[in-house]
Amino acid sequence: MFRKNCWYVAAWDHEVTQTPLARTLLCEPVVLFRKEDSEAVALEDRCCHRALPLSMGAVISDHLQCGYHGLEFNSLGQCVKIPGQDKIPPNAKVKSYPLVERWKWLWIWMGDPELADDSLIPNWWFDHPEWEIVKGKYLKLACNYQLITDNLLDLSHLAYVHLNTLGTNDISEFPIKTDREGDAVRMTRWILDRPAPPMFQSLGDFDGAVDRWQIVETFSPCLTQIRAGACDAGSCNPELGEPDIGMHIRSLNAPTPETENSTFYFFGHARDFALGDQDVSGNLFKMVSQTFDEDVVILEAQQKRITDHPDKEFIDINVDAPGIAARRMLDRDIEAENK
Ligand code: FES
Ligand SMILES: [Fe+2]
Repeated sequence: MFRKNCWYVAAWDHEVTQTPLARTLLCEPVVLFRKEDSEAVALEDRCCHRALPLSMGAVISDHLQCGYHGLEFNSLGQCVKIPGQDKIPPNAKVKSYPLVERWKWLWIWMGDPELADDSLIPNWWFDHPEWEIVKGKYLKLACNYQLITDNLLDLSHLAYVHLNTLGTNDISEFPIKTDREGDAVRMTRWILDRPAPPMFQSLGDFDGAVDRWQIVETFSPCLTQIRAGACDAGSCNPELGEPDIGMHIRSLNAPTPETENSTFYFFGHARDFALGDQDVSGNLFKMVSQTFDEDVVILEAQQKRITDHPDKEFIDINVDAPGIAARRMLDRDIEAENK
């Protein structure tokens, strides 16, 4: 059902403290906490003694103590203390997950720990000196994580779902291009010589029409980076790709499955203009949040119909090409993992 030998975002860095945090990821119960030295740890959230969730216990120095009979576990999941006895059974341990703190996110490896390689974490900076990061958050969605990837790879929905923020009516006049490259699928669309959408109008300094670009890349299993921006109409050449001029926005999207039909959707946004301007940050955060709330309504309603009528089929249209390519890429990777 899920690709496991890969990195998923388990939490924002600030969410994980010395108070244990319970989170179901890929249908597995996980507890996240920080040791006294602030290193973050992820363990199976089920005590090997009598199955109490360890998240109901407490962090004691570098150990997580179960809240029922006081067994203590180290960061490798090994039981290191049993109150009232010296001998610790060799199988007194819980699963521990490789966990890496990078780009303000905690990345977890849910598959074979031997294969965990932190060089596979994408180079998704939230600390680039030339970009300003808009406060991130996550949403909990009652939908399958692949619906989120479909949504991000098909921005034609901006014209119907997000007319108040990112959308304009003319998007579908401009065709998309789909590229497939190993572990990535890319959707590119240029919208030339058209009015800027409300968000760009309020954030940018545009007198008339603009050229806009949307370059959306999904990396297996489901990490999506959007590069979007605008410049004065006629001042850039789409053949040359994203230009240096104009305003640029990056959107980093990391949906992590909780279960088959529920998802933690982590995201953040960065911009390269109006650096340090708190008003722009506040506005952007407000508009982005509004945009995502609009998506939540769509995605959850869509999932409900799919769940209620699982045997009904879909028809495909041109704008589905990148989403279909991303699903094929993921199917291929899940199949390879289960060989
Ligand atoms: S259930 Fe955890 S110590 Fe008994
Ligand atoms: Fe959307």
